[in-house]
Amino acid sequence: MPDKLVKRLNGKRLGIFGKGGCGKSTVAVLLAKTLRNRGYDVCLLDADSTNVGLSEALGVDKAPKPLLDYYGGMVFSGGSVTCPVDDPTPLVGAHISIDDLPNVYQSDTPEGIHLFIAGKMGDKGPGAGCDGPIAKIARDFRPRFIDESPVTLVDYKAGFEDSARGNIISLDWIIVVIDPTSAAIQMAINMRDMVDQLKAGRLPATAHLEHPDLVKLVNRLYREAEVKGVLFIMNRVRDEETEWYVRHTLADHGIEPIGVIQDDPSLSMAWLKGAPLVEAANTHELERIVETLEKVAGRIATRAEIKPEAS
Ligand SMILES: Nc1ncnc2c1ncn2[C@@H]1O[C@H](COP(=O)(O)OP(=O)(O)OP(=O)(O)O)[C@@H](O)[C@H]1O
Ligand SMILES: [Mg+2]
Repeated sequence: MPDKLVKRLNGKRLGIFGKGGCGKSTVAVLLAKTLRNRGYDVCLLDADSTNVGLSEALGVDKAPKPLLDYYGGMVFSGGSVTCPVDDPTPLVGAHISIDDLPNVYQSDTPEGIHLFIAGKMGDKGPGAGCDGPIAKIARDFRPRFIDESPVTLVDYKAGFEDSARGNIISLDWIIVVIDPTSAAIQMAINMRDMVDQLKAGRLPATAHLEHPDLVKLVNRLYREAEVKGVLFIMNRVRDEETEWYVRHTLADHGIEPIGVIQDDPSLSMAWLKGAPLVEAANTHELERIVETLEKVAGRIATRAEIKPEAS
């Protein structure tokens, strides 16, 4: 039930990262549902330029059209949306009231989660360019609601590319999903270190930028970044031995996950069939994860402060 704590995630942008196939989209859908159950206005922004299927996993009747079309297409094909690495300037019109955004660019799930799709490369043809413009939309898009600011979950594509393009600067929290593989554990460590560097004032690469104003702008954007920290969720955990091993390996690197999502065959079956995901097997844990998010979201926490509740 909504209470005072629930308000703490209003207006926050949470970016979900992790290695390929670790469960980013699954966690995005399950968190969106749990947040909605708790009374939030929830936006889910699909920022994966390749994979499809999030609409079905959420149970929306009709997938929204990509925001890339609304914002005028990619610069490489004569459109107006640029890559944030070449052109860090903010996306014009990115802070938009959902009443002003045509309905075809937004879809609601039966429970009222708002889904947006940044853009997809699949139909752009060979030689279309890079997906940087999609990353710019993911970085800057902030829908406005009438009553309250929504909590926004951004489901990123696998790996580091979008964070290296500067998507971290527009997020309040980074969530790294860790499946039971050493690659996923390493990515969690790297992401934690990357965010630590940003918070310590490390500026982006700008040697390629010819105009000094662009260098100034991107440096300012990095200095003003409000990212508060990185949180970690273990996913697809099959048994106690696996959980123990991953937990201990993470602990050796000073990382304590805020939750553990079990391997649930009904989730993989839903992805196989293109059916909506049901959080049943993990409901209690998801609620605990959201409560932890609410607890840490209201203050600027250091990594040492972010501790899950004792179970
Ligand atoms: N908790 C889980 N229990 C069972 N299967 C899971 C779970 N989480 C993810 N999966 C399986 O792993 C696959 C990949 O999950 P998902 O698409 O969420 O990962 P992803 O990180 O978003 O992948 P990508 O990098 O391709 O975007 C799913 O198709 C599903 O079969
Ligand atoms: Mg995905």
